[in-house]
Amino acid sequence: MENTQYRQNKSGLSVAQQDQITAAAQILREGGTVAFPTETVYGLGADVTNPDAINKIYQIKQRPIDHPLIVHISDISHLHYWAQAIPDSAWLLANHFWPGPLTLILQRSRRIPDSVTGGQDSVGLRIPAHPVALALLDTLGPEKALAAPSANRFGRISPTTAAHVREELAAAVDMILDGGACEVGLESTIISFYDQSPKLLRPGGIAVSALESALDSPVMLAYKISQTIRTSGSLPAHYAPETPLKIYSTKHLWDRALALAAQGSRVLVMTWSDIDQSQPSDQSIQHFSMPADPITYGQQLYAKLRQFDQAAFDYMIVEALPDNPSWLAITDRLQRASYNPFDNKQN
Ligand code: TXA
Ligand code: MG
Repeated sequence: MENTQYRQNKSGLSVAQQDQITAAAQILREGGTVAFPTETVYGLGADVTNPDAINKIYQIKQRPIDHPLIVHISDISHLHYWAQAIPDSAWLLANHFWPGPLTLILQRSRRIPDSVTGGQDSVGLRIPAHPVALALLDTLGPEKALAAPSANRFGRISPTTAAHVREELAAAVDMILDGGACEVGLESTIISFYDQSPKLLRPGGIAVSALESALDSPVMLAYKISQTIRTSGSLPAHYAPETPLKIYSTKHLWDRALALAAQGSRVLVMTWSDIDQSQPSDQSIQHFSMPADPITYGQQLYAKLRQFDQAAFDYMIVEALPDNPSWLAITDRLQRASYNPFDNKQN
């Protein structure tokens, strides 16, 4: 445990934060739930080895019980404890990208209960790159781990600040640890090694190109066709604001906004390019300019969607993103946010 001490001292947490973490660990040991920060989004955590605590997560999130949870660990040496038959290429990615926004789907060990995996024989594991999350895991000890989905209601936008969690779940969770705004702002990349060769189940904080260059081989993009693998992010309507969200090309964006405004709708237009310069003004249209690079766009996206949701627009119109792999995760989230089961197609 010398290692643990070293990490906690190095993490730069204040005494007050350490005290909070000690209290949070106690709640978790007693079967409670704690929301905690990670570098991607806030997680809603419970002790992996306690099925009653795990059930609380499903109840709080109103999530179907066959949708598996990601298990968070603090050290790569714990991987053997929770997973088995780990391929070399999975070790390679774990060594390369952990702690970081990458989840590996592996064969579960017998220590992972059915409640965590929805009965599947695989388990999703990652080491989060956040000092509060790591200190919490270290305080719990090496034979514990935290099952944690994003700390939002099923299908809604993931929280990227403690205030988001408070707004949505405060009454339901036992404690919320505040670790500031999440640095990445989008969920982890999920890659499955369950049947050995790597398959991308969800684009996220680590670019596919970075995975491919670490592996020196291509990764199959399986996330649009994963009907048989139960990844909740693969349901079409997900990560969704309450306000209907539509994506239009740069060319049609303002025409569509003006047409909706002409029908009496209040419209929020979210762009990233400099298209806005010469646009007509209309009292019913509010314009917001997002960063033109995917890293900062990704950091801000969920917080902005929440903010605009609260401003009670009739529509959010989003400028289509560049067709470039570095925008893959953001494009994926916006497409799911825009999905309307009453439309025949995604906008
Ligand atoms: O960045 C993240 O991954 C955040 C933070 C809190 O770590 N967590 C997160 O969890 O996004 P959640 O539950 O909202 O999304 C996890 C996704 C779900 O779509 C789930 O179905 C999938 O991971 N998943 C988990 N275990 C799986 C497994 N064994 N096989 C296939 N998919 C799995
Ligand atoms: Mg989620």
